[in-house]
Amino acid sequence: MAVRSNLVWLTLALSLFDPTCNAGPVRQREAVPDGFYAAPYYPTPYGGWEDSWKESYAKAQVLVDRMTLAEKTNITGGSGIFMGPCVGNSGSAYRVGFPQLCLQDGALGVGNTDHNTAFPAGITTGATFDKDLIYARAVAMGKEFRGKGAHVFLGPSVGPLGRKPLGGRNWEGFGSDPVLQGIAGALTIKGVQEQGVIATIKHFIGNEQEMYRMYNPFQPGYSSNIDDRTLHELYLWPFADGVHAGVGSAMTSYNAVNGSAGSQNAYMINNLLKDELGFQGFVMSDWLSHLSGVASALAGLDMSMPGDTQIPLFGGSPWKFHLTEAVLNGSVPVDRLNDMATRIVAAWYQFGQDKDFPAVNFHSYVSNEKGLLYPGAVPASPIGKVNWFVDVQADHASVARQIAQDAITLLKNDDDFLPLSTKSPLKVFGSDARVDPAGANSCGSRACNKGTLGMGWGSGVANYPYFDDPITAIKKRLEDVKLYDSDNFPLILTPSPTDDDVAIVFINSDAGENSFTVEGNHGDRDNDKFSAWHNGDKLVQKAAEKYRNVVVVVHTVGPLIVEPWIDLPSIKTVLFAHLPGQEAGESLANVLFGDVSPSGHLPYSITKKEDDLPDSVSKLVKEIIGQPQDTYSEGLYIDYRWLNKQKIKPRYAFGHGLSYTTFNYTDAHIKLVNTLSSALPTARQPKPSVPVLSTEIPPASEAYEPAGFTKVWRYIYSWLSKSDADKAYAVGVSSTKSGSKTYPYPEGYSAVQKPGVPAGGGQGGNPALFDTNFEVDVTVQNTGSTHKGKASVQAYVQFPADSGYDTPIIQLRDFAKTKQLAAGESETVTLRLRRKDLSVWDTQKQNWVAPGAEGDNGKSKRYTVWVGEGSDKLFTRCFSDTLVCERGVESPV
Ligand code: BGC
Repeated sequence: MAVRSNLVWLTLALSLFDPTCNAGPVRQREAVPDGFYAAPYYPTPYGGWEDSWKESYAKAQVLVDRMTLAEKTNITGGSGIFMGPCVGNSGSAYRVGFPQLCLQDGALGVGNTDHNTAFPAGITTGATFDKDLIYARAVAMGKEFRGKGAHVFLGPSVGPLGRKPLGGRNWEGFGSDPVLQGIAGALTIKGVQEQGVIATIKHFIGNEQEMYRMYNPFQPGYSSNIDDRTLHELYLWPFADGVHAGVGSAMTSYNAVNGSAGSQNAYMINNLLKDELGFQGFVMSDWLSHLSGVASALAGLDMSMPGDTQIPLFGGSPWKFHLTEAVLNGSVPVDRLNDMATRIVAAWYQFGQDKDFPAVNFHSYVSNEKGLLYPGAVPASPIGKVNWFVDVQADHASVARQIAQDAITLLKNDDDFLPLSTKSPLKVFGSDARVDPAGANSCGSRACNKGTLGMGWGSGVANYPYFDDPITAIKKRLEDVKLYDSDNFPLILTPSPTDDDVAIVFINSDAGENSFTVEGNHGDRDNDKFSAWHNGDKLVQKAAEKYRNVVVVVHTVGPLIVEPWIDLPSIKTVLFAHLPGQEAGESLANVLFGDVSPSGHLPYSITKKEDDLPDSVSKLVKEIIGQPQDTYSEGLYIDYRWLNKQKIKPRYAFGHGLSYTTFNYTDAHIKLVNTLSSALPTARQPKPSVPVLSTEIPPASEAYEPAGFTKVWRYIYSWLSKSDADKAYAVGVSSTKSGSKTYPYPEGYSAVQKPGVPAGGGQGGNPALFDTNFEVDVTVQNTGSTHKGKASVQAYVQFPADSGYDTPIIQLRDFAKTKQLAAGESETVTLRLRRKDLSVWDTQKQNWVAPGAEGDNGKSKRYTVWVGEGSDKLFTRCFSDTLVCERGVESPV
């Protein structure tokens, strides 16, 4: 039960409200700075019009049509926190054959169970810049979720995007760039969903810091104030890619966007996600962030998770029985409920879960074979078998190891110091070199930092089945190894270091979810900031004083400032191993001893100082009274986009990563695949209408609690007592007849379906945005003579100088990783640029505009596509107008 008790008790402690009743009117919004506004957008667009979902919707409609009112409202909400085996357990409609769905964390493997793989974190996976590996991880994870009986995988996380380097949850996602997040998120969705598991893209949107993320009765969560263009070009971008990949569900964020809370933000859910992006799946609230009953339904929320009000465990809910009541009394239109239920059932059909889906065989909160079925109902919970200990690991450790290995990012390697010879005597420093002596899983939700850091903390973790730690793997290679198992450098070293001695210093930096505080860090790295934890920077400095050759290995959730030691003469090598998951040891040893060359690249920039980034990004918002305002005043300029604009040289740029060998990028060609013949994409097709079920208020009897049913204490049900149902029905019927409405509908409310915004038209937006316009081929050769290696090829676009829009100097648009190339060997890789990659979001036109497209004069403007091995190592460029590529040119930044 330790897992989320902090969250629960914190919320309980803050509670002054009647916990069982929370379906009341919309909370008043706090004022946000001028210029930021979450405009009303109603009604929620129906799902089911997109071709690839039509069949599933047709089946879903048949099933939903057979459901009673209480069955429909049951499947749209969870049974309550700790009220079942999974972190989220939706209600069922067994009478018609629809099961309870199991929704399970975490983003790096099946959470809260056993016999699973603890894969490398998202940030590590992003650092591979390897599409095949990203996909392979997803396939393996999808198999494990399915094997455990989990219908819904609560990942991938592509928000936070990584705007704030100190943000607590950046490590769950893939790196501080929308394209890296977008490609990795979409491949994860594909791999997971191909296994018949519904993926959940999260957190929609703006959860860029942990502190003050949640609404509580005294204070609203912070508002991420994001302008329209920035929203489209950065934060919405990976969600668009995820929807384009057909993602089945989405999770809203805790925070507000432009003043309106994530779970009831009609602009974000109805307009952006369901209309513009054409999302066909269902939208769930983040845990305990569901604030209002009717308002959230109208704003487009489809599933309440875990079902409770903000104050959980009292059987209260904004929906379930309240939603039943709200439909009966006419506050929530019947077609909205039908759409919610149909979206959920359609996703279940879409991924084949109606056929042979395994039953849940684990319990998130009980580790014994038998235990409480509903721990939230203690002491009244029935007891039964809850764990079958199904081993779902198969050979997934090899995928996990490959990713951990290929993510290792060599930042510095003076005098080609690595790889190590197996003869050099090694002295190893730092507790991060070995597993937590109390066990890798000693702290629930990994909310402590006592050994090698394999993952951050919070809901995005999984239990380690075992932990391959670095010191064990190093000792397998070498006899002469001594571990100084402390984070303080020894006062006396005996014997004194010789010139041949090599010191490897392990340091780390941790972060996680705000429900836990670890060593003074409240989720975000607000205490240790950019410094290594446990005085790690000191440890490195001390080692550098005593040893001539020092290798620094960093396990980290994000960037550190390495200035305190990076230029010391004995610091020969620095490796960022990110968060490797269970396979921390062998993967590192393979790199240290040269079995493979490192091939990871930085998924963020490492600046020289905190102030190299603007305050809006480097600082956390902390107002303790009223709603904290997190205003994205830096606009499009985060990470390398900002540094390039300000001409600030980071210590290591986004995309940087060395190898033991060298690569040449030759023979680049740019091919025109589709002419960009107009600035605007081809107009979208009109949205086809979809069949609708009856919109009549159903008879009250569909909501009556069945006679003789024994309820589980505190479990959330969707029935009403006969008298409540009859009363609500009478109100609903009379208001329908008189045309009066009993609910104060929000400003701008309308019940008439809209035709669809011009930027929409398919999953992810107008299908024309995803057409490839150019392809760039480049041949990469391993020009070294000794080591094999994999090269990362990154393509950045530079918009036409006379585009009329302010654009970042360069922006990542695609990437590819070569296979293992032997010395002298080459491979040709292809990168592609789609219309969207060549467009900016025009806030006036409310559409994507390609400023370099052919104008009325038949002339196009020049895009430059830069190709290379890091955002500051781009020595080849190709022009979109002349279709010429040149190499040996100076990098644009
Ligand atoms: C997190 C989500 C997670 C959910 C369920 C929340 O606190 O923000 O990412 O999926 O809990 O555990």
